[in-house]
Amino acid sequence: MKKIAIINGPNLNLLGKRETDIYGNKPFEDFLNELKAKFPTVEFHYYQSNVEGELINELQRVGYSFDGIVFNPAGYTHTSVAIGDAIAAIKTPVVEVHISNVHAREDFRKLSHVSGKAVGSIFGLGLKGYELAVTYLIQ
Ligand code: DQA
Repeated sequence: MKKIAIINGPNLNLLGKRETDIYGNKPFEDFLNELKAKFPTVEFHYYQSNVEGELINELQRVGYSFDGIVFNPAGYTHTSVAIGDAIAAIKTPVVEVHISNVHAREDFRKLSHVSGKAVGSIFGLGLKGYELAVTYLIQ
């Protein structure tokens, strides 16, 4: 079994009721169940936090033993040097995912402290981005 961590940052616990025109109507837990059904050979570990340091703790916890990390740092993408440093520090490959097309929105969303440390980034493809990231990480 491959061990994949999915880590979501601030406000992603509100998926399904938050700015649904941008982020869609589906709660992440529903999507996660679909993902588990699609990848029966993957052991998924899901973590969400609204707190920067807690996200760093989780990256450090899974970052030396898991096969891959799918990470949506949400708003911290654009502000957190410390999260970028944590990704650089760990050994497990990280794929950065954003549900929306961050490059088609406000200018401040074009800066990522994560992209340069991640193995790759997916943005603008909705929740499908998480599935594509898992497909990449288990290959
Ligand atoms: C997001 C994009 C970020 O700019 C924003 O702060 C989020 C969600 C996305 O998934 O599209 O909270 O990471």
